[in-house]
Amino acid sequence: MPRKTARKNTESAPAPTAIKRIAINTGGGDAPGLNAVIRAAVVSAINRGWECLGIREGYNGLLMPEQYRDGGLIRLTRERVRGITHLGGTILGTTNRGNPLKYPTVMKDGRIVERDRSGEIIAGFKKHRIDAVIAIGGDGSLSIAGVLAQKGLKVVGVPKTIDNDLDETVITFGFDTAVSFATECLDRLRSTAEAHRRVMVVEVMGRYAGWIALNTGISGAADAILIPEIPYDLGKVATAIRERERRGRHFSIVVVAEGAHPQGGELTVVEKRIGSAERLGGVGEKVAKELEPLTSKETRHVVLGHLLRGGSPTTFDRLLALRFGSAAVRALAEGRSGVMVALDPPTVRYVPLEKAPHRMKTVPLDSDSVLTARELGICLGD
Ligand code: F6P
Repeated sequence: MPRKTARKNTESAPAPTAIKRIAINTGGGDAPGLNAVIRAAVVSAINRGWECLGIREGYNGLLMPEQYRDGGLIRLTRERVRGITHLGGTILGTTNRGNPLKYPTVMKDGRIVERDRSGEIIAGFKKHRIDAVIAIGGDGSLSIAGVLAQKGLKVVGVPKTIDNDLDETVITFGFDTAVSFATECLDRLRSTAEAHRRVMVVEVMGRYAGWIALNTGISGAADAILIPEIPYDLGKVATAIRERERRGRHFSIVVVAEGAHPQGGELTVVEKRIGSAERLGGVGEKVAKELEPLTSKETRHVVLGHLLRGGSPTTFDRLLALRFGSAAVRALAEGRSGVMVALDPPTVRYVPLEKAPHRMKTVPLDSDSVLTARELGICLGD
């Protein structure tokens, strides 16, 4: 886990404001811990005498209420959030399609234009007498939250992603769960790889950052780890595998981040999408195909993909998610808006929303994790 020295919340707290009703939403890809944030936020808000509403599937509950039986808003009572801390997914649903600031709309002539629908969201808040919103999401959702705050809404963001690529917070919930599960998968793959004397190539998520691949690969004793931050040369990986052969180790495990790419080569993209991020995937299969002739060893590939986003959050992720949910409500109670909660051990601090989502946090090449991998003899493809 990347660490920073603890910083104090230096900004002075604004005057507390009267809040009667808040809304909560979850946007972007789901991550284990979302329900824990919702529960902590709801209970902390109810204990302050506030009412809570949940917006369905990002802002869709406000933008297209007719599509939902309940009108797109859920009354979040103490009973509604009981027993959900350990559950994966999100009781509110989520979406990583249709950014409301650049909403893809098909015109009569078939052209697709991007429309800003933030005015409708603000009108929805007024209509339902919502005083503030807690927006839980990744870089996309937090950027939207920042724009809504600039337009006058009271907003507090909660960072979420299994990829751990959000700057300004040392870690995001969901990441530990993803790495723990992927490491267990490596343990399982090791025995079958050894039994068949094979090379197993394991592709993991992470977008343009190698955090999941690196932490999984080190913890699961991979023989090679390929991350986006270090463009790879498969010749180097093949040499490492042949060297293992010479030492009597007839199998190898190669962990590949979905955003990894060859030196001088391109990312592997499944789909380009209008109004949302491109979808990565397939590099594991490519690496397996190209590695086989270089090593003369039977090679298989496995894509862990969305399995990393499912399941119960680990204790670490539950606790972090609960801390974030309570801190978001505390921020609103203190009169803060336009901020994101962030982990800066040992504390949770607040970061301006216009600052937070705009810098991607990638793996520093001089980090102790990269050095550890190298010192353990793990090939990083360079
Ligand atoms: O950002 C989270 C993430 O899980 C990435 O690691 C991955 O590239 C992406 O979402 C997949 O998104 P989708 O749910 O659209 O397949």
